[in-house]
Amino acid sequence: MTPTPVPRISLRQPDDWHVHLRDGAMLQAVAPVTAAQFARAIMMPNLRPPITTVAAAIAYRQRIRATLPDGCGFTPLMTAYLTDTIDPAEIERGFAEGVWVAAKLYPAGATTNADSGVTAMARIEPVLAVMERIGMPLLIHGEVTDAEIDIFDREAVFIERVLAPLLVRHPGLKVVLEHITTSDAADFVRSGPANLAATITPHHLHINRNALFAGGLRPDFYCLPVAKRELHRLALRAAATSGNPKFFLGTDSAPHSREAKESDCGCAGIFNAPFAIESYAAVFEQEHALEKLEAFASEFGPRFYGLPLNTGTITLERRPRQVPAMLHLNDAAGTAVNLVPFHAGETLNWRLGHQ
Ligand code: DOR
Ligand code: ZN
Repeated sequence: MTPTPVPRISLRQPDDWHVHLRDGAMLQAVAPVTAAQFARAIMMPNLRPPITTVAAAIAYRQRIRATLPDGCGFTPLMTAYLTDTIDPAEIERGFAEGVWVAAKLYPAGATTNADSGVTAMARIEPVLAVMERIGMPLLIHGEVTDAEIDIFDREAVFIERVLAPLLVRHPGLKVVLEHITTSDAADFVRSGPANLAATITPHHLHINRNALFAGGLRPDFYCLPVAKRELHRLALRAAATSGNPKFFLGTDSAPHSREAKESDCGCAGIFNAPFAIESYAAVFEQEHALEKLEAFASEFGPRFYGLPLNTGTITLERRPRQVPAMLHLNDAAGTAVNLVPFHAGETLNWRLGHQ
């Protein structure tokens, strides 16, 4: 009897349009993980100190490359961190020199290392005007930070109070609303102009807010923007699998050490890089939309950014395997960094062919 062939699909190699690779020991541990999955990735600049100069971005890019094995074709795409006092000329120079491909807007205090973020949009109007003129994308953490706004409403309120007026003031600005979590965001992006797009994470496609409290407090499912109600998760699934080019892949993989996650003020972030494409494949299969995965993962992002599509391919095989409860990733000194991957202990049906 001939064995049944393992179902497999080939995809143009994907990119990750939103990832946190950190610095130092954590960078050493996690950069190769993202490089094993993706051809290119957008590096989030929320380091300590944040990446606010061209020189800092070049140095960070060098530290990222130094973690990768020889011959690794991975390309880190750098971003600038917008502050109230950032120099528009520096932003323009870094973009003209091809150092950074976008700038990131963190409302001050919105998330990890966002304390140097923007306190009022008026402060960055000159930078936004420059970015609009030169075609440099603005990547937005779309949450208001006002203490009186319920944490589950912060994205929707941001859209109404900040994003909608921003698009009126700068109709030509390319904007990516990052890691959307609500039906409000999906609707807003869908009905907005062509220069407005959104990234969607694997975790917001898999979990709703119940995951944070399933049988007890579950820090591994805590991220920002926080997961919302089931109706929002379903809206995100519909958006991601719709074939609409405004929605594309961005993992927001955000590793924090075990200790940092389990402290009395645990950090926000889900480490989904190790099984990211497998996680997306699970969603697309469940939604009977596997044929739409390639465009979401590998085409819509580069088209929006105006970058060439990758030419390589990856293969996904339908061979179920269990995700480890914990990963022990070595930094350069051989010290283990212990990280809980997204889907820990669960079985994922797809795996990258070369693994
Ligand atoms: O969950 C998150 N973690 N959301 C963010 O916006 C930042 C990220 C991080 O850097 O840890
Ligand atoms: Zn992020």
